[in-house]
Amino acid sequence: MGDANDMATIQKTLLEEIEAFCKAADMAVTTFGREAVNDGKFVGRIRQGKKVTTATVERVRQFIADHSADSRSQNSGDDGNKEMAEAGKLADKADGSGTEVSGSDGQAAFRFYDNRQKYLLFVNTCSEKWVVADRVGEELARIHPKPPAVRVYDAGMGDGTVLTRLMRQMHCRFPTFPFYIVGKEVSLEDVRLGLEKMPDRFHEHPATVLVVTNLYYTESPWLSPGSVQSAAALNWIEVPLSGDTSHEFETQITDLQSTLADGWQVRSSEKTGNPLYVRPSVLVLYREDHKFLLDQVIPRPGFARADYDLVVASQPYRARMPVEFKVEKVIAPLAKALGPGGRLIGVHSHGNDPGLEIVQKIWPGEEPFQTDRHTLLKVLKQKIGGTHRDLNYKAYSDQKALLRYHMHTLPSEIDRHGIGTSTLLAAWNAAIYVAQIEDTRLEEAMAGGAYLDATREVLAERGGLWFFDESFVVSRRRV
Ligand SMILES: C[S@@+](CC[C@H](N)C(=O)[O-])C[C@H]1O[C@@H](n2cnc3c(N)ncnc32)[C@H](O)[C@@H]1O
Repeated sequence: MGDANDMATIQKTLLEEIEAFCKAADMAVTTFGREAVNDGKFVGRIRQGKKVTTATVERVRQFIADHSADSRSQNSGDDGNKEMAEAGKLADKADGSGTEVSGSDGQAAFRFYDNRQKYLLFVNTCSEKWVVADRVGEELARIHPKPPAVRVYDAGMGDGTVLTRLMRQMHCRFPTFPFYIVGKEVSLEDVRLGLEKMPDRFHEHPATVLVVTNLYYTESPWLSPGSVQSAAALNWIEVPLSGDTSHEFETQITDLQSTLADGWQVRSSEKTGNPLYVRPSVLVLYREDHKFLLDQVIPRPGFARADYDLVVASQPYRARMPVEFKVEKVIAPLAKALGPGGRLIGVHSHGNDPGLEIVQKIWPGEEPFQTDRHTLLKVLKQKIGGTHRDLNYKAYSDQKALLRYHMHTLPSEIDRHGIGTSTLLAAWNAAIYVAQIEDTRLEEAMAGGAYLDATREVLAERGGLWFFDESFVVSRRRV
């Protein structure tokens, strides 16, 4: 009896502590419950007097203690940039600034994703993003969306080519269903390029809620920053688009430039020099004339759900990162964000193609693609298979999993009369971009003419340039 009373008192105090903490941190109690004990309804249940175990009390208090300390020391999480730098490798993507920053080991850490021009030249000269979008679109036949919306998460919008091509396929298959689409993107330049492709999407499919966010992989599916400090600083921008023409939508999206520039700033981590978001930002776009219809779909701070029908993870990590990193920082959190019946499709480079031949002519023995899909899925299963028993892992046969894409060339560009210099440069760019060769190594190689000779030889021998990606699927059982 005495114990029960004590427990009741402890619970009452605990509730007060939680409420004080949430108030100070400006955190919704549902977010608190989810973050602290993985249960969004936790606080509601204690309010109703439901018993909690002493272990849970301790866990909650530990969470409060950790996060109070967190906000004092101004710690911020990231997509494992710290780990990346510690591994002496690269930083994650920041907006188009420089190409190299200093890693914690004092060596230059390669900011691969910052290489705007290389990326833009690659996306516009090769068919990769089309091929990826087609493969992702095939998954639409295997998902089972439930009201209120078809729910899609793009784990790195990039320039938005994959996402907009997917959205067109979605409209074709689900012309009258509302869409809830979340695109994670930390690069301001990519956010601009992605949004620029959206006005006609709102026109053709008016029941669309599009969310763009710079939150990390472990945060963005839930639209909820991990640390209390970031949660308190969350920059939530809701933009109902007025009018009903693409031009009107385009004008309003273009007018967001300064809002985006403000929300998508990056800073360098003091510890590692790597880019981190300055303000965790969430931009929510939808058509004002569909606000009533979309009421259940439009996310609100602290109340977003991560039960996606489809998660797209196209080139979401650097090839040379250790498999544990790829799994823990990227694929595992994304798999956990799947709803029942949801499917995650992953795509990364495979090699064994003329692109890699060019690279190996200059750097013999170079093997950038060290983690194949089989290994990745094996490690993923080891890490989360025990706790998430309703997940399935599909590596498929090479015939089904491999995606071949090519550099667009006109028939006259590669023939017996020779290959034009711009074709050669585009081919070289694609080869070194896909193989993720660091700038320092590139500078050396490009000081002479051997790289052009190597490119020319491979193109002439193969009659063109193509690459292989490989794809895999993680699906969650339907209930
Ligand atoms: C999160 S990732 C991928 C973005 C988007 N999902 C896509 O497929 O383009 C963002 C970065 O990956 C890099 N990337 C995209 N495609 C790549 C490829 N085929 N090989 C290597 N890196 C690539 C680009 O630098 C891009 O800015």
